[in-house]
Amino acid sequence: MSKLRAQVLSPSPENLKKAARHLQKGDVVAVPTETVYGLAGSAFHEGALLKIFETKERPKFDPLIVHVYWQGYGSLRSAQTAKHPSLARLGELNLTNPALLSYKAQHLAEILIRSFWPGPLTLILPKVPQVPDLVTSGLSSVALRMPRHPVAQELIQAAGPLAAPSANRFGRISPTSSGDVLRELGDRIDLILDGGPCDVGVESTVLNLSPEGKLELFRPGGTPVSDIERVTGEEVLLPRGPQAGISPGLLAQHYSPRTPMRLLPAPLRDISRDLLETLLLEPPAAGTYGLLVFQGDPELAVQQFQEKSGKQAFGRVLSRSGSLAEAARNLFAELRTLDSSGAAIILAEPCPTTEGLGHAISDRLRRAQHSRN
Ligand code: TXA
Ligand code: MG
Repeated sequence: MSKLRAQVLSPSPENLKKAARHLQKGDVVAVPTETVYGLAGSAFHEGALLKIFETKERPKFDPLIVHVYWQGYGSLRSAQTAKHPSLARLGELNLTNPALLSYKAQHLAEILIRSFWPGPLTLILPKVPQVPDLVTSGLSSVALRMPRHPVAQELIQAAGPLAAPSANRFGRISPTSSGDVLRELGDRIDLILDGGPCDVGVESTVLNLSPEGKLELFRPGGTPVSDIERVTGEEVLLPRGPQAGISPGLLAQHYSPRTPMRLLPAPLRDISRDLLETLLLEPPAAGTYGLLVFQGDPELAVQQFQEKSGKQAFGRVLSRSGSLAEAARNLFAELRTLDSSGAAIILAEPCPTTEGLGHAISDRLRRAQHSRN
């Protein structure tokens, strides 16, 4: 990597003010959220938006999430008349415009916001003209979320709504600590606010709310679909077929380590010697293997793998006890560790369930797979 220029700052009141000034003049700042770190810029500043795309090398067809702050549904209307300029700008996002959303859709938006904000749920809603086309890649909808992390909340209150994708280079693993951001973008940005390791560890669930009130999942994430269905009493439609046209970020390969990675069909202990041999026949068959063990004792998994395959391996575990929340929290950091371990190939055990957080974990593991770059 070329020379690091980023400063990693503790979220003291002075540093938050400094970050807010940076944002207000159209610069970008890396900000902690409860899901992953974001690369934030003012949602209404075209220059800042351009910097986000450039810094990440992100194609402009992939729209950004706008991070907002408000204390309860309904106060959005009063935000329009608020004295504080950043809150007045929030009013421009105008969620409750009956011309854009049917009564049913407004009702669902209210339930979802009350139940899941602040938190890892991004809602896609019809957009109003004040939202720059750069944010939405020209789509007629806008993605909104209120993060739960106090540092993100304070910054939004000080600097107004923030557009923020995950603070990684396009297609790479999302950062879940300030150190990860430094390694990803430290040569390209000035400020990284350190808010500690991310609590959730996978990105927000992206849910489309159509004007008629249909709920469609665009990306599984930190808010389980079953929770959304329980509070709304509505079915969440799951994506069918390629999603690239609908949610441009949902490209098949995403979140990838540099090292080639394969998702195993079963946990290592259940894979026979013969099956392992077939799996390992594919190149590169030489060199050390990096094992991403889902649960249990990683040393035991490495030992079993070495006995069955006769190959050297190095193992990391997502959650010894098999907790999905812990596995999600550790997922990206452990993928990074294996990626920089010098392994020739990463073999990942599958998540034992696709329920709850298992949906997002399985999705990220599947997308991280690739044979070569
Ligand atoms: O947890 C998160 O959501 C993190 C933190 C920083 O908030 N952000 C994040 O942003 O993951 P990003 O840009 O990496 O992913 C946003 C996803 C992309 O897949 C994008 O295509 C989709 O949301 N998206 C954004 N606006 C959309 C829109 N109007 N219609 C459809 N999909 C949209
Ligand atoms: Mg991302």
